Amino acid sequence: MRVLFLNGPNLNLLGQREPDVYGHTSLADIEAEVRKRASSLGIKVEFHQTNLEGELVDWVQRAKGKFDVIVLNAAAYTHTSIALRDAISAVGIPTIEIHLSNIHAREKFRHKSLIAPVCLGQISGFGKKSYLLALEACVDVIGTQK
Ligand code: DQA
Repeated sequence: MRVLFLNGPNLNLLGQREPDVYGHTSLADIEAEVRKRASSLGIKVEFHQTNLEGELVDWVQRAKGKFDVIVLNAAAYTHTSIALRDAISAVGIPTIEIHLSNIHAREKFRHKSLIAPVCLGQISGFGKKSYLLALEACVDVIGTQK
């Protein structure tokens, strides 16, 4: 199984950015934990971060035929990007939306996710564990497709 982890804007600042909201762990450390857990589950992962909306769209498009599942923390683009939503819908790869924080318990503008309707499901509010829970969910997704 191949899983593509995509991370949107400002997630490169994890560890320094609002640690009370997002925790003290850097994205590189989260990636290392994901890779460790993935290898024990027999999952191959690719991990990317970008601050650019179009780059996220490009990665989603290029995933076709290469990845079985996309795990997406679109960060602020979650709440604004019709382009990203359309890319997920166009490509048709099962996509799991994740967030470190519980977006529904925060400011009102974060309650709406434009990508949620085209994702399999949403994991929100478990800090860095949201990434590991998404990996577990990937195992189920692929299991049910077989
Ligand atoms: C986030 C939540 C978003 O609302 C926010 O814009 C982010 C991070 C999260 O992981 O909690 O940048 O996606």
